[in-house]
Amino acid sequence: MCGIVGYLGKKEAAPILFEALKKLEYRGYDSYGFATSDGSKIWLDKSTGKISETKPKELPGKIGIAHTRWATHGGVTAENAHPHTDCNGEIVVVHNGIIENYQELRKELLDKGHEFKSETDTEIIPHLIEEYMKENDFATSVVKTLNRLEGSFAVAIVNVKANKMTVARKGSPLVLGIGKDEYFVASDIPAFLEHTKQVMYLHDGDIVTFDGGIEVFSTLEGKKVERKIDTVAWDAEQAMKGEFEHYMLKEISEQADVIKRAISQDSKEIMDIARQINEAKGIFLVACGTASYACTSASYFFSKVAGKHINVVLGSEFPYYKHFLTPKTLVIAVSQSGETADTLESVRVAKEAGARVISLVNVMGSTLMRESDQHLLLNAGPEIGVASTKVYTAMLVVLYLLAYATIGKFDEGRKKIRRLYLDVYKLTSATMRKNIKALAEKIKSRDHLFLLGRGHQYPTAEEAALKVKEISYIHAESFAGGELKHGPIALIEKGTPAIFFVSPDNEKEIISNASEIKARGGFVVGVGSKNNEVFDFWIKTPEAGDLNPILQIIPMQLLAYELAVLRGCNPDMPRNLAKSVTVK
Ligand code: F6R
Repeated sequence: MCGIVGYLGKKEAAPILFEALKKLEYRGYDSYGFATSDGSKIWLDKSTGKISETKPKELPGKIGIAHTRWATHGGVTAENAHPHTDCNGEIVVVHNGIIENYQELRKELLDKGHEFKSETDTEIIPHLIEEYMKENDFATSVVKTLNRLEGSFAVAIVNVKANKMTVARKGSPLVLGIGKDEYFVASDIPAFLEHTKQVMYLHDGDIVTFDGGIEVFSTLEGKKVERKIDTVAWDAEQAMKGEFEHYMLKEISEQADVIKRAISQDSKEIMDIARQINEAKGIFLVACGTASYACTSASYFFSKVAGKHINVVLGSEFPYYKHFLTPKTLVIAVSQSGETADTLESVRVAKEAGARVISLVNVMGSTLMRESDQHLLLNAGPEIGVASTKVYTAMLVVLYLLAYATIGKFDEGRKKIRRLYLDVYKLTSATMRKNIKALAEKIKSRDHLFLLGRGHQYPTAEEAALKVKEISYIHAESFAGGELKHGPIALIEKGTPAIFFVSPDNEKEIISNASEIKARGGFVVGVGSKNNEVFDFWIKTPEAGDLNPILQIIPMQLLAYELAVLRGCNPDMPRNLAKSVTVK
């Protein structure tokens, strides 16, 4: 939530920051702002609205910072947009995170005569630095300030007079890009990927000051540290929209390749994790949102294919399960970003109880990856669209592979999943899109949509409902087929659309649920390999048995996308949402 970026080098900062910020817009898009320094003064440009809908302003200076906002404290106004300055306009700050004790700090600073221009928690940072600089140098003042902050932050701070930039993180992501005679800092790698693939992942508590090069690298406790430079495997193309209208459509279309990459896991590592699953006393899959539905899907898969019971718990609920944790418990945390606050909190709770933590994560160098005892990368490439699509598929693939591995069938499982490549490719084709668009036309004006599945198809219904509601704003709700008669059937009116996911092992039961809806005037859509007379609309997906969830979600991702477009919503930037949820 919120994206920050900074540049320091030999080029004009503003155009670089502008392009970089556009790549971070998925993190927040209610307002934006830039600040550059030419050594004599700060040049500021702040506005409400989306960065992608504006043109770059000419701001002089070879050092600068920028921010795209997802409001937490203070309304969406130009004054509340970052960057924020001190009273003299000499210290300027962008911030991602939440300062929990900002009210008491603000009062303290107001009492000392500081004047605030915004309602944000962030603005206390430049003022506090200004206050400490009355008796300390810049570097010391920054350390003292950051140590007073409770909550989470990733900050980039520019001091005009010293022509220096300092960056730091605690609880919010921040990564450095190391170019030739230039440095970048950003909440996420795609921001600077077109300039460099050399990155340095900052750890919690790291503070870096730049002055031409990296001058000081220390921790909040003042300890000098060194961090290694990594090379990212992603390339700039992967993080661009290319010929696609939206990132979401591009990412949906990439899923055949995503499967290929997700299965090219090191077999030794998979076998090692499978062994730990087999040996653990109590296994939890922990995740939020889409990742949690991938986990639920995997729990059905583990149960059927491997005869293994796995508990699935939402990241926000997991801390309430801490009484069940022992040093023999295995917690597998699953996340695209690796920065989701609730998932990270669960990991910390698990570690406190002595449980072992393994993470399945897409973003290399993320906090989750670093805080886990062991990790496995999902290898889906950068996912920019706010609605997760290709990473959901990568999660299913890796979790299913693990299930096969626990019963010594890793190679066989990998072969089965590899065979889906062509099917996935066809499901993402223009023909399928046309078919789905026709369905979207039929239901685009409805207020409600219901999605039903049984067994292994139930989590697919849950994930499909989330996709539809979050980007098209149609109320979409999922039910287990058997639950229909326990209440939800009361919602069915003439023409209410209901989508049913069908697989051979639950066909009879789910078709009779579909008939119950049809009998009450509902509009019945079937997703599966066989047509049925009860369907008003059929979406044909190839028959893949236990692997059906990998195929059946794809038309639903397309449906969500088409519904959003037809209803005039931007699927890449759904209202009120941001890609990484770094607050609890
Ligand atoms: C929905 C979506 C979210 C995320 C959730 C967890 O399309 O993307 O529900 O799945 O916020 O995020 P990660 O996987 O980054 O932990």
